[in-house]
Amino acid sequence: MKLNKFIVVEGIDGSGKTTICNYIIYLLKCWNINNIIRTHEPGGTILAEKIRNLIKNSYKEFFSYKTELLLLYAARLQLLDNIIKPNIKDYWIISDRYDLSSYAYQIGGRGIQKKDILFLQKFINNNIIPNIVIYLDVNPLIGLQRIKNRNKDRIEKESIKFFTNVRKYYLKIANNNNMIKIIDANNNLSNVKLLVKKILFNFIKS
Ligand SMILES: Nc1ncnc2c1ncn2[C@@H]1O[C@H](COP(=O)(O)OP(=O)(O)O)[C@@H](O)[C@H]1O
Ligand SMILES: [Mg+2]
Repeated sequence: MKLNKFIVVEGIDGSGKTTICNYIIYLLKCWNINNIIRTHEPGGTILAEKIRNLIKNSYKEFFSYKTELLLLYAARLQLLDNIIKPNIKDYWIISDRYDLSSYAYQIGGRGIQKKDILFLQKFINNNIIPNIVIYLDVNPLIGLQRIKNRNKDRIEKESIKFFTNVRKYYLKIANNNNMIKIIDANNNLSNVKLLVKKILFNFIKS
């Protein structure tokens, strides 16, 4: 029996994270696994959802990248202490985004220094490492095309250049970390699902 079953789905906006989280939960239920907690970042607790709204709204003032960073980590700490840490031994936790998003968006997208992220990781005592990270890699032009009819939040309104930089950083980390499974999410959804199913199946039987 595995101790932890913490699965994270990552990728830029429009890569298919929500769709794939739904699919993972569908699969687990098909396999008669029902002790599942679904969450997302930023958010996942009452307070963290309030912080999510603060982050996603637009304002008539410049939203400092460091303010954004601190809010993201405040929300992550709430989620870790209230949901993830107390439940990780007993539940499958499926999260739409986790700390890899901070590396990709804050370092790759915003230009925050890596040492500042590392400091915050330590400061919030984030010692929970996911068992599987599925990174849905998509060309930003395709990702943004998929969400073009969505009522976009402040981050989703960022430029192609921004998402290109975010994607580059995702790939830089994922290519150097065997724990992160890269899926070509430019592919049609049934192919993506098949790959996700294989990853999940291998994890369960290992
Ligand atoms: N591989 C795919 N091919 C085509 N369309 C996709 C694919 N994955 C997701 N979609 C569609 O793209 C849109 C955005 O997907 P979503 O899961 O909401 O992405 P995210 O949560 O990463 O922003 C949805 O309409 C979804 O049905
Ligand atoms: Mg989503």
